[in-house]
Amino acid sequence: TRVLAVTSEIYPIIKTGGLADVAGALPAALKAHDVAMRTLVPGYPAVMRALPKAEEIRRWPDYFGGPARLLAGTHDELELFVLDAPHLYERPGNPYVTAAGTDWPDNGVRFAALSRVAADIGLGLVPSFVPDVVHAHDWQAGLLPAYLHYSGGSRPGTVMTIHNMAYQGRFAYEMLASFGLPPESFSVHGVEYFGWISFLKAGLQFADRITTVSPTYAREIQGDEGGMGLGGLLRERSGVLSGILNGIDIGVWNPETDAHIAYRFGARDLQSRAANKAALQKQFNLAPSTNALLLGVISRLSWQKGLDLLLETIPTILREGMQLALLGSGDADLQDRYQAAARAYPGRIAVVIGYDEILAHLIQAGSDALVVPSRFEPCGLTQLCALRYGAVPVVSRVGGLADTVVDIGEADSSRHDATGFKFGPVTSEGLAGALRKANLAFHDHLTWRRLQLSGMTTDVSWRNRAGDYAALYRTIVAARRS
Ligand code: ADP
Ligand code: GLC
Repeated sequence: TRVLAVTSEIYPIIKTGGLADVAGALPAALKAHDVAMRTLVPGYPAVMRALPKAEEIRRWPDYFGGPARLLAGTHDELELFVLDAPHLYERPGNPYVTAAGTDWPDNGVRFAALSRVAADIGLGLVPSFVPDVVHAHDWQAGLLPAYLHYSGGSRPGTVMTIHNMAYQGRFAYEMLASFGLPPESFSVHGVEYFGWISFLKAGLQFADRITTVSPTYAREIQGDEGGMGLGGLLRERSGVLSGILNGIDIGVWNPETDAHIAYRFGARDLQSRAANKAALQKQFNLAPSTNALLLGVISRLSWQKGLDLLLETIPTILREGMQLALLGSGDADLQDRYQAAARAYPGRIAVVIGYDEILAHLIQAGSDALVVPSRFEPCGLTQLCALRYGAVPVVSRVGGLADTVVDIGEADSSRHDATGFKFGPVTSEGLAGALRKANLAFHDHLTWRRLQLSGMTTDVSWRNRAGDYAALYRTIVAARRS
């Protein structure tokens, strides 16, 4: 099966969040399931630098407002198509926002162009790679199923994957013609959404199959709250909607071989982990204590992640003798409040504002528990890394967090061993309660060791999950043939 994936970010070239990790890891994992995946990405500066030898396969004098080329090349194991269009993508920094943090004003055209070229590859633009299925990730690729729908003729199967309902890509109706969409597409049964053009809605409306990144999130988004305005459409299309859990790249996230951490360790020599805790405390200027439960956080600082609730539990953290090491960036207000907390409680609360992959590995290896108090979480990847690194996850009972962590309370009924702590509803009281429970368990060495070992032996790899995608692609291909 040949699949063209379309994504606006891909690890290790350009990343703002988990989408990049997923897009970067899935192709290799799919190889074992006989799926040949190529991925189309925008030609941001980082992408152009990563593919110095890319080959030009097509050139346009005017593509959505400027000259453009379609390139093909490889980076590590990744086989990529690149839309090189300097007027759209040759900009420094973040793929979606300006240095001041506001959306690039032409984001609609930037990602319409990406989807348009993907649709054309789907229709046979590159004779050496005509995909059976095209796989669109998030709103940035949402127009792809719509373009194919309106193109007529023989088209490949289409999958739309939702990584986050909170970002839908909404643009003014006046842009319709500049996106190359026909006038009749502007209807409730097309790309229209309350008077706007919605890229995500377009994808959900026209894709053969819709997936999201966990079974629980697949249920939540069919509700009014989780659906964020698209719950009704998803209820209508529930027959073609499913949840496939994310995995992590267990080559990148392996405590036995990780070059970024102070001391490597595995399930058989967990005592070496203590040295990483000491290293983390030193790096973050925390008091060198083995006895204090060290909480770690690695996160974007946004409303979704519920980290304002963690700020409210700081009195509990202090009273219980715990420590906190947080790495994150995002909302200015949250950044300020965390930095103020670190100033107020030196040695106990430590904060690094920024994005730092090496520090992220250090926190996974050295913290005792990883806290993810999200208000909603389509899947979440940091708790999966935490399981593998013996950092016991303390998470809210939502989305993929609910599906990937086994709470002590549900261990018996689910036939799985407990791997962490879950709380719900998502309030600061609930979080504080879970932190107290974790602290109690931490001081019972046998219980804690058992939690760590169950986590470390949980399968968080892509192996089986990639198989689910492969099966889905084949179902689509078979359905279109019959
Ligand atoms: P989301 O995509 O919603 O941000 P995920 O948990 O799916 O959440 O993925 C986040 C990814 O980004 C993980 O790989 C995590 O390690 C990484 N990450 C998040 N914040 C930081 C940071 N400040 N520094 C380094 N890595 C980070
Ligand atoms: C989104 C979600 C996150 C998910 C990631 C990859 O960024 O917020 O929960 O893990 O996509 O699917």
